[in-house]
Amino acid sequence: MLINVPIQTERLVLRCWEDSDFNPLYRMHTDPDVMRYLGGPLAWSRERAREHHSRIMASWDERDYCDMAVAVRETNSFIGWCSLQPQEDLDGEIKLSWRCVKESWGKGYATEAGKALLAVAFRNLGVARVVSRCHPDNIGMVRVFEKLGMKHVRDLDMPQYDAPIPLYVLERTDYERSQDKGDT
Ligand SMILES: CC(C)(COP(=O)(O)OP(=O)(O)OC[C@H]1O[C@@H](n2cnc3c(N)ncnc32)[C@H](O)[C@@H]1OP(=O)(O)O)[C@@H](O)C(=O)NCCC(=O)NCCS
Repeated sequence: MLINVPIQTERLVLRCWEDSDFNPLYRMHTDPDVMRYLGGPLAWSRERAREHHSRIMASWDERDYCDMAVAVRETNSFIGWCSLQPQEDLDGEIKLSWRCVKESWGKGYATEAGKALLAVAFRNLGVARVVSRCHPDNIGMVRVFEKLGMKHVRDLDMPQYDAPIPLYVLERTDYERSQDKGDT
């Protein structure tokens, strides 16, 4: 992994996957509310999902980028995952993504994890910009982009969705300016 984990924030830890993450991860991916703007709940059987989970755990050290498990620091309880990954269909730009269990929503966790990963992207990986996108009806996600200082730059035509998909970007210069001002 190019990203050094664990990453500690005030309330969270972004870490390697643990075996005990499997059940909450499976519940999250089969929850229609979580998957509402992501093509619907995963149709995988537990066995298929278990196989995938084991493969991710086994390949962690061999890959440059990987989804990181996110847990509450105090209890080590899994609340979702987040990632920085080069996005093939966006010319390899580094894309920030999240998925969190429903019980954890609205507590600022996605914003907190996002801030930590923006710091990694700009300070450690030295990228020029970080991008992300979501369905325009996914108000919670759009709000997280805004809180992180990401700007809507254009819409993407993605045939699998019923609406143009807004692309959000945070440029290095804007990130550095916000850090100087103490915004984030
Ligand atoms: C999107 C998601 C990651 C946000 O996680 P989260 O931990 O709840 O995010 P935060 O608490 O940091 O911020 C959410 C913000 O959206 C606001 N929000 C959420 N739903 C809202 C709604 N329907 N209308 C208005 N505001 C809403 C919250 O009030 C909060 O803003 P605030 O801090 O100004 O009050 C989480 O809901 C999730 O995992 N959803 C399912 C998966 C998904 O859609 N992932 C994104 C795919 S691109």
